[in-house]
Order: sequence, then C-alpha cells, then structure tokens
Amino acid sequence: MQKNDNRYETLLTLFEEGLAAYTAAFPVSQSTLSDAMKYSLNAGGKRIRPVLLLAVNEMLGGNSETAMPFAVAVEMIHTYSLIHDDLPAMDNDDFRRGKPSNHKVFGEGTAILAGDGLLSLAFELCLDSVKDENTLRAARILARAAGASGMVAGQAADLESEKNSVFTEERLLFIQKNKTAQLISAPIKMASALNGGKYFDELSVYGDRMGYMFQTVDDVLDVEGDFESMGKTLGKDAEENKLTSVKIYGLQGAKERIQTLYEESVAAIAAIPDNGFLTRLAGQMARRAH
Ligand code: IPE
Ligand code: IPE
Ligand code: MG
Ligand code: MG
Ligand code: MG
Repeated sequence: MQKNDNRYETLLTLFEEGLAAYTAAFPVSQSTLSDAMKYSLNAGGKRIRPVLLLAVNEMLGGNSETAMPFAVAVEMIHTYSLIHDDLPAMDNDDFRRGKPSNHKVFGEGTAILAGDGLLSLAFELCLDSVKDENTLRAARILARAAGASGMVAGQAADLESEKNSVFTEERLLFIQKNKTAQLISAPIKMASALNGGKYFDELSVYGDRMGYMFQTVDDVLDVEGDFESMGKTLGKDAEENKLTSVKIYGLQGAKERIQTLYEESVAAIAAIPDNGFLTRLAGQMARRAH
C-alpha cells in the first residue's frame, strides 16, 4: 500500500510476476477481447486482494506457488467488477486507475464481454488448480463471494438504493458487506482454506471488518480525495444519489466508523502469531489516500 512498506512491495512484485506469467499465455482466442481484458488487468490497481491472499498464505506457512492461481483469480474477478461498475448503466465513470475506463477505450459491448471473459477465466484457473480438499474449498469461497449471494448482490442493492432513494443504515450495511467486504474477506479466507482452515474464524472477522472499512474509506475519499491519487472521478456518489457511509453517518461519523472498524479488525487477529504485517496493513488501509 505505501511505497515504504517493503513487505507490501515484495508481495506485490511476487503477484505481478505471477500475473505476467499467466497473461503471457492468455487463453483468449479473440484479440480485441484479449486486449480489453489485459487493458484493465494491467491498468495499475493496488492489488490489495491478491496481496492479502499471499500475505495470509505466507503467515500460515503456505506455498506461494499453490496460492498464486487463486490470487490471480481474485484480481481478475475484482477487475471485472470494476469494468462493469464503470459502465454507463451502472456508475457511468470515465476514469479508472488513472486511465480511461474500459468502455471508453473499447466501447460498451466489448467492456461487458471483457468482464464476462475475466469472470469465466477466473474460475477456469481455479478449476485447473483444484487438487485436494483445501484448493476445492478455496475455489468455493471465491464463487460464493463473487456471485449472487456476494458482490453481485451488493451491486444490485447499490443500484436499487440509488434508483429508489432507499437510505437506511441497514441497507448501507448490506451494500458494503456484499459489494466490497465479500471480495476483501474472500482472499483472506481462501488463504486459510489453502492451509487447512488455520485461524479461519479469526481471519474471517478480520476480513469482514477490513472490508467494511475499505468501502467506508472509499466513500470518504469520494468526498475528500483527489483525482491524481485516486485515479477516478470523485464527487460521483452525491451526484449519482448513492447510498454511502457519508450519507448515513456524515463525514465525521464515517471517519469515526473507520477507526472503530480498524480497531475491531486488529483485535480479531491479536492472538495469531506473526500478525505484524496484517496489523500494519489494516492501519495503512484506514489511512489510505488512494
Ligand atoms: C475499488 O477497489 C472498488 C471498491 C471496492 C471501493 P480498489 O480501491 O481496490 O481499486 P484498485 O484495484 O486499487 O483500482
Ligand atoms: C464498487 O463500489 C464496488 C465494486 C466494484 C464491486 P464503488 O462504485 O464505490 O467503487 P468506485 O468508487 O467506483 O471505485
Ligand atoms: Mg458502484
Ligand atoms: Mg463506482
Ligand atoms: Mg466509490
């Protein structure tokens, strides 16, 4: 997350190498589609989800080679969710990761298909990597978190709230849990599953709290952040009538909630040996400006 955090940089480099090796032999048989998929995959995201997967896997003594395809799959699903999230029919955003959104470069039809391609490829990669109960469980966690009882459900509720001006705290929490927390906690739980379910309950709470925190920070940065650091147009939530933490709690209330979620995430893993990096990362995510 921060350039001076060596551990993050090391895990990021490891991930970028794994992703590059995978995309070098990208199993996509149509060149425009392949270009569109790679455009967004390589547009320069923070890679927080795969870094979390690799970090938890290392903390539990796991092998990075076994974990890598699952880390790539998580980032492919996250990237697909962003391509679709930016479409005119959803949030209608022209910039992502500091570059024009996928549909601005390739057109809406190809952007939809690039998302579809990334989603399917993620599960092809998972299935190719299933070799025992642990890997099967990791794949299943991702399927559940990504789909109609996970991220997709959260996105549906986000759109519905915007359309019907449903602004309750209960609805906000449903949206945050599903559209964001599911895909932040999934890689953490997947890494536990890959290692026989070690500290699964503690890590699940950590991931869940981090997920709510991540979206709450995103909502605050939509009000207070700057385009240069965020790489996306800000002030869009108010413009698009979005149900956000700022709408329910106010700016100050949202910041207090970030602090509480941070404390809860760190407390959840206090008893796990070697929790230093995850603890530091929670602090960096709470304070992030990009
Ligand atoms: C953006 O996710 C969407 C949210 C869930 C808030 P990230 O902030 O992780 O985006 P990238 O991957 O770094 O671009
Ligand atoms: C996006 O939430 C969550 C997903 C893409 C699943 P937002 O709509 O708040 O994300 P940004 O602000 O466009 O990155
Ligand atoms: Mg959205
Ligand atoms: Mg959006
Ligand atoms: Mg946002």
